[in-house]
Amino acid sequence: MSTPDPSSAIGVFDSGIGGLTVVRALMDRLPFENITYFGDTARVPYGVKSVATIEHFTQQIVDFLLQRQVKLLIIACNTMAAVAADAVRASAPVPVLDVIEAGAANAAAITRSGGIGVIGTPTTINSNAYARAIHQLNQDCRVYSQACPLFVPLVEEGWLDHTVTRLTAQEYLKPVFVEHIDTLVLGCTHYPLLKPLLQDVAGSRIQLVDSAISIADRAAELLQRQGLANPSRERPQYRYHVTDVPVRFQTIGERFLGRSLGQVELVQW
Ligand code: DGL
Repeated sequence: MSTPDPSSAIGVFDSGIGGLTVVRALMDRLPFENITYFGDTARVPYGVKSVATIEHFTQQIVDFLLQRQVKLLIIACNTMAAVAADAVRASAPVPVLDVIEAGAANAAAITRSGGIGVIGTPTTINSNAYARAIHQLNQDCRVYSQACPLFVPLVEEGWLDHTVTRLTAQEYLKPVFVEHIDTLVLGCTHYPLLKPLLQDVAGSRIQLVDSAISIADRAAELLQRQGLANPSRERPQYRYHVTDVPVRFQTIGERFLGRSLGQVELVQW
């Protein structure tokens, strides 16, 4: 395995638009790193697909990014991380980080009572990946998981502070809150956009874990430790690749990214 070039881009991938919350956190945390993003907008959502299908799609995306010589792979999609992270790690010639290990480590570190709630897509929750990762770090933690399939379309609709979204959150989180958790992991790319609403519904005694911020911290630490931080202080290059015509990605993506996107390239397999 040859050492990656520190001036190469970080490869970030997701099932669609949502991974831009991770890109946003990376841009804030690592302002000199080049980033190449891949969003599989033609085949999103992944959160309701089978493990075999997600594994197959994930490998295609990883091959695409490795051909572009990325120095680090970041699995921004919780659903892909839940079912395909081991396979990606086993075959990738560069370091791999995923949102689940990052979010789980953060949750295990900050909980005081040991009661942790996890919310995500049905595939992420059914995989039990967050609970496994948290228990590997602290067997005494109690993990209560809840699938919230309606959150992804509500966020994409822009209903970030809408009554419908608030009622949906109250309904989904009812069984989690009765377990006296003190930490709630936002286990899906879209949920950081719901942070103000979810914090309001959860109350101030529950700490929210934003996996996007957790993984940006881990990426910064890994690049330093492995001597892979970009030495250049020039303005970095951001490249976006999507599999469906980029109009929707561009408009909704700017909400996720918190700034304008620049050029988006359509990938035709
Ligand atoms: N990116 C997915 C995740 O973080 C949400 C969207 C989807 O279902 O593909 O789980």
